[in-house]
Amino acid sequence: MRPNDEIAGRYRLEVLAGRGPMSEVWRAHDATLGRTVALKVLAPTADLERFRREARAVASLSHEHVVRVFDYGEDEVGPFMALEWLPGGTLEERLRGRALPGAVTGQIATAIASGLAHLHERGLVHRDVKPANILFDAENRAKLADFGLARSTDGPGALTEAGTVLGTAAYISPEQAAGIAATPASDVYSFGVLLFRMLTGALPFVTGDALALMDMHRNRPAPTVASVNPAADPALAALADSALAKDPAARPADGAALLAALGLAPTEVMPTAATAATRVLTPAVTRTRSRGAALAIAAALVLLAAVGGLVAWAVTRPPAATPPGAVSTSAKTQQTVPFVVQTHQSPHKPKPPKAHPPPKPKPPPEHQRPSGHRHGPHRPHPHRT
Ligand SMILES: Nc1ncnc2c1ncn2[C@@H]1O[C@H](COP(=O)(O)OP(=O)(O)O)[C@@H](O)[C@H]1O
Ligand SMILES: [Mg+2]
Repeated sequence: MRPNDEIAGRYRLEVLAGRGPMSEVWRAHDATLGRTVALKVLAPTADLERFRREARAVASLSHEHVVRVFDYGEDEVGPFMALEWLPGGTLEERLRGRALPGAVTGQIATAIASGLAHLHERGLVHRDVKPANILFDAENRAKLADFGLARSTDGPGALTEAGTVLGTAAYISPEQAAGIAATPASDVYSFGVLLFRMLTGALPFVTGDALALMDMHRNRPAPTVASVNPAADPALAALADSALAKDPAARPADGAALLAALGLAPTEVMPTAATAATRVLTPAVTRTRSRGAALAIAAALVLLAAVGGLVAWAVTRPPAATPPGAVSTSAKTQQTVPFVVQTHQSPHKPKPPKAHPPPKPKPPPEHQRPSGHRHGPHRPHPHRT
């Protein structure tokens, strides 16, 4: 694709804005509505179903701290989605090698928590919360983006996803690293890593070896924020520390609990037609599922439990920040590295996390009013896909 290419007779490409492992993102002009959009076009080798799911996931959301999707189509150049144009760059770019001022950290943390509260309320888990997926609009509002790994928490997807996890090693929750299905509390953990980094300029765990990094997330207690940056805001530091608990049940349960810990309530969410239908239909589908299908699923689960879950994750570049005394990240882990890993974990969902008593609430900064309301004993053996 090149500048001035026209997609779907409507979008004229202007400048390549970013490139992910799965896609190219262009700033484009929408001739029909006369506005600038971000046109995300799927790479020829990438997974079409995943891209369609991503478009549907974003389309089911409507929140000022979640990127909006305007259009989806499948053109000669490939499948594309037109997204709200976010010209302010990524949080990753703002974090390179430094902590952020406390007020800015509070503002961004609140924005992300309220975006997470919205998508958790809608029954979605993001599964790839990290600074490269937080973008800023022209008014400097942080937006949660890149729903390429997002999944429903209660649909059939949650069942088939058990044992298969994708995520980013530097931000991955212990349960995702162990091949257990992600829950809202998994997003809370990744949020905790992100908040830790904003407060300290460093990551809680750093090593050049992706497997060792996964192992640290699963088994090694995270350093406290205060031990790395004693000057960090104490309430935000306490929130990061609690979000980084190994046990999902010991973390704030979801985005709404994060917001509560920040002293805010999420806005009330009206069910959309789609989510209302899903909520009614899901149990009905379960009830009317044929006995044969149920037996087949049970047999598949037993088989999966016997042979061990198949875990795949994508390791995208960890940030350059390095905590004092830690080993630098190697060039190898700066790239996306797909793995398939054998675990000896039965593919079950962890018990739903309980709400965790929030740390001392902190009054929100004046300038921000968001609208938001196991670790298996075996080390996995990597096999490149
Ligand atoms: N809505 C947007 N506005 C502006 N730039 C964007 C937008 N969405 C993505 N980008 C740019 O494209 C990059 C890759 O986008 P992302 O959605 O994360 O793709 P991938 O799924 O391939 O990781 C981002 O890091 C960012 O630089
Ligand atoms: Mg991305």
